[in-house]
Amino acid sequence: ATSALVDRFGRTARDLRISVTTACSLRCTYCMPEQGLPVVPTGRLLTADEIARLVRIAVDELGVVDVRFTGGEPLLRPDLVDIIAQSARVAGTASISLTTNGIGLERRIDALRDAGLTRVNISLDTVDRDHFARLTRRDRLPAVLRGIEGARRAGLTPLKINAVLMRDTLAGAADLLAWSLEHGVELRFIEQMPLDADEAWVRENMVDAAELVATLAPRFALSDPHRDDPHAPAESWLVDGGPARVGIIASVTRSFCSACDRTRLTAEGTVRSCLFGDDELDLRGRLRAGADDAELADLWRAAMWGKQAGHGMEREGFRRPIRTMGAIGG
Ligand code: GTP
Ligand code: 5AD
Ligand code: SF4
Repeated sequence: ATSALVDRFGRTARDLRISVTTACSLRCTYCMPEQGLPVVPTGRLLTADEIARLVRIAVDELGVVDVRFTGGEPLLRPDLVDIIAQSARVAGTASISLTTNGIGLERRIDALRDAGLTRVNISLDTVDRDHFARLTRRDRLPAVLRGIEGARRAGLTPLKINAVLMRDTLAGAADLLAWSLEHGVELRFIEQMPLDADEAWVRENMVDAAELVATLAPRFALSDPHRDDPHAPAESWLVDGGPARVGIIASVTRSFCSACDRTRLTAEGTVRSCLFGDDELDLRGRLRAGADDAELADLWRAAMWGKQAGHGMEREGFRRPIRTMGAIGG
């Protein structure tokens, strides 16, 4: 009895991203306000049981095939291993992955892998310690590097690194790529989107994919950009003829909204149909009021039917969403 999550533009969502907390151990300027986000009382967060139930509905009733946990920083959830274990148990063949800043990952990676985690993406914008401290407002580069090393030792592959492009780090982009090639991790550069708390993002000042490619060109030959999967945000370029690769997620200049296959749950259990879509549907309330699986699935379908065409950044009168990135999870 599955009927998929389709929208009125004909897209089907098969990739579910679940934020499990809005708390974070860093304060990246493009994502969070300096003081962090308001603390969400524990009672308002989805519990591990509730998350697993929603994962089961997503997979069994709605055709979801990939599940990714995000934050804030998901490792700050004390019950993350339980969340993943319970979700993996009901997820059938769906993949279970994690996007994290890596802090503390080495201590929990074995338990997470044993619980059913298949893949990890780790955020790292620079390998320069001073730069890192300025961008994240925390001097924690060594902890992040330990997390990456831990994930590598645990054998979760491919291990991907996400680097948001900034004016400030562009000069270090080639070093970050060299470091990634040396360490056998797959680097992806990301065009910054207007989801920062300080509203400092301006289109004219954004580092785009073309400028990145030009900056890397003196040290690396990049060729043959292609998408592994037509719905993936990243385009992959061969480095020096391959097999090494580097990804670019050009959400702004080469928008992939028309192929979007994402549905999201916020930490408080609302369905968010688009990163940029503020009208969310509260599933947690209905779930706690006793709704059955079929009713929850129907509500989810209705929320996705109303998904907007895209982020609309290039349109006159574009308004940024109320939530900043830290409260969505990417
Ligand atoms: P893989 O399955 O490993 O390719 O993961 P992913 O790239 O889908 O997920 P990840 O959490 O690593 O996200 C990397 C970057 O892609 C982040 O900056 C996200 O904000 C961005 N991103 C992910 N999904 C979307 C999306 O639906 N729309 C836009 N505009 N950006 C997205
Ligand atoms: N624009 C693009 N990507 C962002 N991320 C955080 N904030 C932004 C933004 N404003 C990235 C993080 C993380 C992923 C989940 O989202 O680097 O890797
Ligand atoms: Fe935290 Fe990730 Fe946002 Fe950085 S990008 S503040 S690590 S949630």
